[in-house]
Amino acid sequence: MESELEMTDETALQNLYDRAAAAHMQPLWVNTKGYVPREPAPAIVTAHWPADTSIPLLRRAGEIVSSEFADRRVLVCNNPALPPFSPTTQTLYACIQLLLPGEKAAPHRHSQNALRFILQGEGADTIVNDKPVRLRRGDVVITPAWAWHGHVNTSNNDMVWIDGLDNAVLKLFDATFFELPPHTGEIANEVVGPANTGFDPDWHFKWHDTETLLREQQASGDPDAAHGCRRRLLDPKTNSDPLPTIAAHMTLLPEGFRGQSYRSSDSVIYVVMSGEGRTTCEGEVIDWKEGDIFTIPTWKRYSHQASSEAVLFSISDRAAQEKLRCWREQRGDGPVQIFGLSG
Ligand SMILES: [Fe+2]
Repeated sequence: MESELEMTDETALQNLYDRAAAAHMQPLWVNTKGYVPREPAPAIVTAHWPADTSIPLLRRAGEIVSSEFADRRVLVCNNPALPPFSPTTQTLYACIQLLLPGEKAAPHRHSQNALRFILQGEGADTIVNDKPVRLRRGDVVITPAWAWHGHVNTSNNDMVWIDGLDNAVLKLFDATFFELPPHTGEIANEVVGPANTGFDPDWHFKWHDTETLLREQQASGDPDAAHGCRRRLLDPKTNSDPLPTIAAHMTLLPEGFRGQSYRSSDSVIYVVMSGEGRTTCEGEVIDWKEGDIFTIPTWKRYSHQASSEAVLFSISDRAAQEKLRCWREQRGDGPVQIFGLSG
């Protein structure tokens, strides 16, 4: 009798589930952990794009793909766990761009936030809302959402830089907009449209200034146990990230640095500006050097070592996570610190 009742219950339940599925509804209780996981389960993997591979590919593109043809001569770092044309992490894109002497990239604007980190070269300009910004190695330039931007290289130097963008965030919101200027022509110093999104000179983080601050930090005492000497690139007027979604850091690891294990809820994209070292992420070893790009998935424990003095640029979605009050970090086996809740 008891088994008949169970059978009846099972039949009734299955009938309920079938009717719910037909109505495009799912019972939460059969997969609660699927809807509300206890911890992050990142779809992306730790990945490494060595300069030995990426730069020759970019140079080859420079030989056979004109900037007019490509508009932007860019190779996107596609996380290997995701389908083609996917981002580098689940939220951000890292792209490597080549602009040769005499070339330009025509202006446009979009709802994605962007920044550029200059890896090689000096003398080209990025033009943000009609304001030319001279680019030098180590500089970071912010291009906020809906700001007009184009690039022109009037120097004799090849320019290689990393574009960081929050495209996947905008795709999540399905709020992607893109626009070309109402007319075409030379972009240098030309008004290409209404400058309705301000560009602040403070949003050009010059390497000379950043290095000075990192050296001061280095001279003032012991480096951070996990991150060495590190500066978050903040708007000095507001002391906040210039972009609402992307946090950017510059890190100086002294020669011989061996960092403490660390994890945080933001997946991070690192770009090696100079030096050599190793980052270990839960058993995976990344031996990196100048020009390499690598990524650490959310909530994975990792640690840095530097065999020579090294400078790393990094971006993550920490800025957005702090606004959403979901960002957290843990140093070694210490307590988990939750943004906005921890002392
Ligand atoms: Fe753009």
